[in-house]
Amino acid sequence: MSLNIKPLTSTFGAEITGVDIVSPLADDDFAAIRSVFEVHGVLYFPDQPMDDDQQVAFSDLFGPLERTVSTNPAGGSPFARQSNIDIETGERIPLDDPRMAYQKGNYLWHADSTFKTVPSLCSVLSAREVPPDGGATEFVSTAAAYDALDDEMKVTLEDLVVEHDFAYSRQRTGFQLTDTQIAELPAARHRLVRVNPETGRKSLMIGAHAKEIIGWPLDKGQALLDDLLVRATENQAVYRHAWRTGDVLVWDNRATLHRATVFDAARHRRIMQRTTVSDMDVEYETN
Ligand SMILES: [Fe+2]
Repeated sequence: MSLNIKPLTSTFGAEITGVDIVSPLADDDFAAIRSVFEVHGVLYFPDQPMDDDQQVAFSDLFGPLERTVSTNPAGGSPFARQSNIDIETGERIPLDDPRMAYQKGNYLWHADSTFKTVPSLCSVLSAREVPPDGGATEFVSTAAAYDALDDEMKVTLEDLVVEHDFAYSRQRTGFQLTDTQIAELPAARHRLVRVNPETGRKSLMIGAHAKEIIGWPLDKGQALLDDLLVRATENQAVYRHAWRTGDVLVWDNRATLHRATVFDAARHRRIMQRTTVSDMDVEYETN
């Protein structure tokens, strides 16, 4: 089997065809996909409709799957559900329901699970039901953003450690976690500059959950984090994915950021299933 690879932007992302990722993959076929992933950061597989078991089987090839936090409707399972449809009743969730407010956090640029002690390698998102318009997902490369920094800035960033906090990012969109939820997700610290162990390429671990730079005054740290976010999202290529049912995307949470965009949740249905793979290679800060 030979993969057909088409770039999605000038700096990152690849559309992959010529492979069936719904059925079990041969080792060398997955190795080829993994190699493209390490370099391109976002993989788009069109027309690969999969059920939950097939998605778990494909995702598991990348590494161990996370269990979703209890704030998500699919909490405790390997799935994070991004949907305006009630998981129990199949009906649309009212717009003023806290579950919809919770999802507003996805409109901020972020990488998944940077607030966890063991962060994420990648996420897999499959489109089960999509609205006729709206609801696209946008991506940028924080590896491209790092490459574009001048040498002085790269030296400044090299040894910095950042605290990532889920309660902080959700507060920014007006969603208050309960004390139990906060206790479940204590803030985590990670190096600002991440190094891909396969390619040696560096990237920035930033985004909505990044709260402060350890050892810096809070406002100075947030100013730098904001500046880096602007550089990554406004000065670099953006890939905007307009979903079709059956699409599957894989993105590298070490080297990309993404955000959801709005759709008419009062009129249309949208069901997306995400699986999230832990990054077992990272050397993370423990205190
Ligand atoms: Fe996300």
